[in-house]
Amino acid sequence: MTQFIGKLRLGVNIDHVATVRNARGGAYPCPIRAAKLAEDAGADGITAHLREDRRHITDPDIDGLMEALTIPLNFEMAATDEMQAIALRHKPHAVCIVPEKREERTTEGGLEVAREENKLAHFIAPLRDAGCRVSIFIAADQNQIEAANRIGAQVIELHTGAYCDFHAEGKFAERDAELARLRDMCAFAHSLGLEVHAGHGLTYDTVQPVAAFPEVMELNIGHFLIGESIFRGLTPAMDEMRSLMDQARL
Ligand code: PXP
Repeated sequence: MTQFIGKLRLGVNIDHVATVRNARGGAYPCPIRAAKLAEDAGADGITAHLREDRRHITDPDIDGLMEALTIPLNFEMAATDEMQAIALRHKPHAVCIVPEKREERTTEGGLEVAREENKLAHFIAPLRDAGCRVSIFIAADQNQIEAANRIGAQVIELHTGAYCDFHAEGKFAERDAELARLRDMCAFAHSLGLEVHAGHGLTYDTVQPVAAFPEVMELNIGHFLIGESIFRGLTPAMDEMRSLMDQARL
């Protein structure tokens, strides 16, 4: 029988509520209201990515989330001095370090940890000292996982974007190969003592195989849930995701 490491948590990423708000300027719809709704609907955490260009989440959003939430905030950020100072001011429950390119539409790949080991080790040390759980967003790649472990990250989040893209494009052989890589790397990371999370691009169609990996403790899901909530509301959209995750764990 599969031995799951623990209950699978659902982190809801509310960036795209801010995307809609910012399309018009002004204050509506409010991502903090969405985060509180997600909290009431049973989210285990809220994820928000403060990008360098502030294209969705803004600094006042982070202030408001820190004040309003009773569940953990997973603060996604690039490894820059500016973001480090903001994280150290707020001391969120978790900080997830992601790569960031100005021209990208979303976080396209995992962080290159192996080549930046020294720099990243120094970068995350004060965050850890401040009590934040440091997570590194990486591809399912053994070198990157080993490097994340060496620099002192407590958590890795594996990028599921390629798996989801292959599924959407009907490239099922490639999808299954990526899924196998994700499965193996979840087990490998866990064997090193890292906590394993996963996310990016997950939908009702793609969530279950990832949720079924016994070492995965948290899935962070945003774009699809916020999109689906246009049609049915955030609570029912989340309920279905949660029930698919729970079924996959049975
Ligand atoms: N996890 C990380 C580290 C991310 O950067 C993102 C996207 O911001 C997500 C999860 C959620 O991805 P999606 O919005 O595609 O569900």
